[in-house]
Amino acid sequence: METINNLVNQITDTKQITNQGKDFDLDKLVEKLQEHAWVLIPGFIIDHHNMYIFKLLTAYFSGHKYFTDEGYDSAKGIYLKGPIGTGKTTLMVFFGTYIHKYGVEKSKSFLTTSTRDISKKYAVDGFKALEIYTKNSFQKKQTGYGETPITSKPIHRCFDDFGLEDSSSKFYGQTSNVMAEVILDRYELYKKYGMLTHFTTNLGGGDDVEAVYGNRVRSRLREMVNVIELYGDDRRK
Ligand SMILES: Nc1ncnc2c1ncn2[C@@H]1O[C@H](COP(=O)(O)OP(=O)(O)O)[C@@H](O)[C@H]1O
Ligand SMILES: [Mg+2]
Repeated sequence: METINNLVNQITDTKQITNQGKDFDLDKLVEKLQEHAWVLIPGFIIDHHNMYIFKLLTAYFSGHKYFTDEGYDSAKGIYLKGPIGTGKTTLMVFFGTYIHKYGVEKSKSFLTTSTRDISKKYAVDGFKALEIYTKNSFQKKQTGYGETPITSKPIHRCFDDFGLEDSSSKFYGQTSNVMAEVILDRYELYKKYGMLTHFTTNLGGGDDVEAVYGNRVRSRLREMVNVIELYGDDRRK
């Protein structure tokens, strides 16, 4: 059993690894993060289905140039798609927790919310409920008049199970495709402030996205995210 002290030592190790610029030893960091994953996620397995994605995400969240060398854009978010049970949510929550707590690269910190929760909140409170995901998705500072958002500090977010929410939520009879609204707003915030949006989804390609959310969302998404696919069998036992 790993002790907390061991864990803390490993964390220091990852800092030492990443302190060497964008060209540090990525494989070493991957190895360290895997050790963390084994501690944090019982029964976690790295195999040929997720090895590449794990490495890619490690590079992305640590700012290593391997990510761009592979043809991806480090200024965009991650759109992790694939069949049910392949471990998409687990991976994003792992990286989210890891960098949030220990900071492989703090600027890439993000919060994860299930899309179903968002559509349920809309059904209760309407558009007001969406603002923390859109124009209020910033860290805030206390001022004499209350809180003001710090536009240099956007809160990046991961929307879990994109496509599985109720895409025609109703608030007092007003129907809205909630995630389409959120994405269109976050697109503007991405352009203006570099606010990142990540997704996990079982949706297939762009055609699926267009069918549910329309072609405006499809084309905005293409600009906002790197599409990464996780293959494999259902890991649920
Ligand atoms: N790499 C892994 N090794 C072992 N079990 C895993 C792994 N990734 C996920 N799991 C387990 O498999 C189940 C499905 O994972 P999940 O991340 O919810 O899949 P998805 O989001 O792709 O539907 C969960 O019970 C999770 O704990
Ligand atoms: Mg999931």
